[in-house]
Amino acid sequence: MPNRICIHNLRELCGQSIPGYVVVANTTVQQELLTALTSLELDAVVLDLDEANAVGTMLKMREVKPRIAVVGVTAEADARRLINAQRAGCTQATVRPVNLDDLAAALRQALGQTGASEAASQTFGVLGSVGGAGSTTIATYLAVEIATLMREATALFDLDLEGGGVAEALDLTPQYTIADLASAGVVDSALLEKASTVLANGVHVFARPHTILAAHGVEEAALRSILQAAHNTFPYVVLDLPRHLSPLAGAAIEHCTRLVLVVQLTVPSLRSTQRIIDAITAEGLSGKHIELVVNRYRKNTTNCTIEMVERQFGRRVLAVVPSDFKSVHTALDSGQPLVRRNAVRAAIREMAARLTGFEEHAKGKTWLPKLGLGN
Ligand SMILES: Nc1ncnc2c1ncn2[C@@H]1O[C@H](COP(=O)(O)OP(=O)(O)O)[C@@H](O)[C@H]1O
Ligand SMILES: [Mg+2]
Repeated sequence: MPNRICIHNLRELCGQSIPGYVVVANTTVQQELLTALTSLELDAVVLDLDEANAVGTMLKMREVKPRIAVVGVTAEADARRLINAQRAGCTQATVRPVNLDDLAAALRQALGQTGASEAASQTFGVLGSVGGAGSTTIATYLAVEIATLMREATALFDLDLEGGGVAEALDLTPQYTIADLASAGVVDSALLEKASTVLANGVHVFARPHTILAAHGVEEAALRSILQAAHNTFPYVVLDLPRHLSPLAGAAIEHCTRLVLVVQLTVPSLRSTQRIIDAITAEGLSGKHIELVVNRYRKNTTNCTIEMVERQFGRRVLAVVPSDFKSVHTALDSGQPLVRRNAVRAAIREMAARLTGFEEHAKGKTWLPKLGLGN
């Protein structure tokens, strides 16, 4: 498939075709470009380095899509300008007047460089406060929603190695599991690709071992190197964590950019949430990495409210997922995903947008029709 690129603020390239690439957007203002980055499946951006705000634009781009390949176009190959551009994330440049073959060569090079980059991958761990809180349901749909929203490959690891149900929830019968990865020695991107089951939406599922015995054979050091390789390979990684806070779970939590605790509005769940937060902060993971998500929420059915939870834990609840036992149970049982308009999925979609920062940049979409994206 040809790489998809966006041309930013380069009138001279309008209507030109770049050999081997497809131009999916032409943008002129920064906000347009940022929205294109989050809403289109872009591989690279070509922009004008001679524009006064070029460095600022590239820094903003990096916040939205840290791994995007960037090629600059400039009239003068001025060393200071090129160094500033490089520091802002531009890895290749070409000079005016633009030769399209030279631009294609620069794009090829820039894409190769970003492919090898380990930049800012995010790992979201999901941990249930009590058994059945909904960790597997939320982790599974979180990965699906992130892959769909960000249009990026997203890894989903079932780290409930003994009893995990991620593969079943998606009706998969994986050939390889995390146990195979753990016994492989060196783990790299090619091996990760081979050991996962890839869904059409871009989620790469890493299933729990086939047997409990094999689960017991997974060692902490092996898990650490699997997660490091995943960090280097995927822009987003979601971990369905086991409830038992073993050294293995601790190693996984250490890898998390953010840890999502799934709570229910019940006294045992809230007590357990406090115990988990205490244990994790005592281990040195800062409390600010912890997010609370209320699952199976039904209005006016308990004395406990969202506001009480926020007050008790001194933090805002990231998302409230409604209770819909029939839909969730049927989906998990049949392996058929919840339909997109289902309220549980919609709440998890919102949560995915908040965790990835998609929300911030999706505001002000009024120019989208210009790009043919209005619906
Ligand atoms: N939002 C929800 N509404 C209704 N039922 C839910 C919801 N989330 C999870 N469940 C149900 O709760 C049970 C446990 O969910 P699961 O995701 O396996 O939890 P965990 O992994 O924390 O043990 C499942 O039967 C599932 O159908
Ligand atoms: Mg589970």
